[in-house]
Amino acid sequence: MGIEEMEILHTPADARSYVLKRQREGESVAVVPTMGALHDGHLSLVEIGKRECDRVAATIFVNPTQFTPHEDLDQYPRTLEQDLQRLESLGTDAVFVPEVYAMYPDGCSTSIVPPRVANRLEGQHRPEHFGGVCTIVLKLFQCLPCDVAVFGRKDYQQWRVIESMVADLNLPVKVVAGEIVRDPDGLAMSSRNRYLSDAERQSALAIPRALEHLASQVRQGEKDIALLQTNLLRSLDGGGIADSEGVDSVDYAVIVDAESLEPISELDRSAVALIAARVGATRLIDNRLIEL
Ligand code: PAJ
Repeated sequence: MGIEEMEILHTPADARSYVLKRQREGESVAVVPTMGALHDGHLSLVEIGKRECDRVAATIFVNPTQFTPHEDLDQYPRTLEQDLQRLESLGTDAVFVPEVYAMYPDGCSTSIVPPRVANRLEGQHRPEHFGGVCTIVLKLFQCLPCDVAVFGRKDYQQWRVIESMVADLNLPVKVVAGEIVRDPDGLAMSSRNRYLSDAERQSALAIPRALEHLASQVRQGEKDIALLQTNLLRSLDGGGIADSEGVDSVDYAVIVDAESLEPISELDRSAVALIAARVGATRLIDNRLIEL
């Protein structure tokens, strides 16, 4: 049996018939939605998809509706040739790379109101972001009516938002989450890390260090959320994030209920520490689960 070439799907109709054909043949299909500029974090999700299903398809689409007006839509890194090579060498079966007009033809005006878990944190700092994410993810599920969809815990709130949308709308897809993949220095991999200068990258390391420090306090038995949050902010300050370069840069650094993302006062259930901070012009997010 020869190695099958990765199929490149451009239109929603081609994507749909690819998945339906595989499923008619009795195969299951996993989908990994991405915006490209792929790194090992994305590729770890493809590996999960391969384990979960007979076939795995990735999508590469820089979705304009999830960027707020002042954000980096035009500058968002686009590295399609490399992305396709990396996906192919990993044994990805298909990749869906639609043009913007194929996903949002003229006159397209329907959008999704995201679930409640979208309202806080990222939802407050990036209004409309999760509406755009939910709309495109639902559309991708329609184009690729897959059995399993894989999302990363790096975008923790996004994963929870998608899980809620899938439950609320009875979507027939199983959502599977992949762990955060980090560079050896601890920084969570992100397509946006390439914007960081060497000095900014050093400052950015305050984020994983602050999360690590938090975990060690929890291991020592600390349960007071107010205290843990104060310490979390303090380690970000001390680590150079809110520094003298004039970037008052922590959007949030909180410890909240791991499912609802609602505030808690005591560490008496699974929680998650979520951080969003700006280093120079680059906005980074990271998180750490705190399971009891
Ligand atoms: P993107 O930022 O390209 O991320 C695609 C997927 O990769 C997401 O599920 C994200 O959580 C995951 N991911 C990113 N960095 C990761 C890391 N270091 N470790 C593990 N997983 C990581 O998220 C999006 O695109 C878009 O919002 C999308 C869902 C594709 C909708 O447009």
